[in-house]
Amino acid sequence: MKYLLCIISFAFVLNCNSKLKENVKQEETSEKKVYDMYEPSEMANLMNEMYAINAKIKADILAGNTLEEFPSAFLEIHTAELSDFKKRNAKFEAFSNIYIQAEKEVFNTESSLPVEERFNNAVGVCISCHQTECTGPIPRIKKLLIK
Ligand code: HEC
Repeated sequence: MKYLLCIISFAFVLNCNSKLKENVKQEETSEKKVYDMYEPSEMANLMNEMYAINAKIKADILAGNTLEEFPSAFLEIHTAELSDFKKRNAKFEAFSNIYIQAEKEVFNTESSLPVEERFNNAVGVCISCHQTECTGPIPRIKKLLIK
């Protein structure tokens, strides 16, 4: 009898769990639908890629791994299309150049500055550019900084 009870309660727990999962799944799909209505620009996609690559660089620095090559994807900042409502102006071009320079420094094995400092400088340029026109992602970008 005890054994049976155990099975019953176990089955109940399982069932409860799968219901929970179903709910989560439903929530995920409805969230996805909302997201699909918004079509990200080439630049927004690139920015998210840049974020992911920099998160990996940070992890490598913290783990003491040797950094791979400068990711050429970063250079697309010069050509990727912005959202309709934003214009590629002289300020944007200037910040793009400073950003690429700072990011190249991260991979400069002959630099006398510690790599953590060079990495934080590059992330600092992300933040500076964002302060000029697109402040929303700044709190997220700050999380990339090495403390
Ligand atoms: C030269 C200026 C500039 C630099 C440098 C820059 N950004 Fe951006 N970022 C922008 C602009 C402008 C947008 C909005 C793009 C659009 O809507 O087309 C943006 C958008 C974003 C977004 C939001 C993307 C989305 O899904 O809407 C994130 C996240 C982001 N940037 C992170 C970063 C990170 C991380 C860095 C540095 C590794 C960085 N940015 C460097 C100008 C810049």
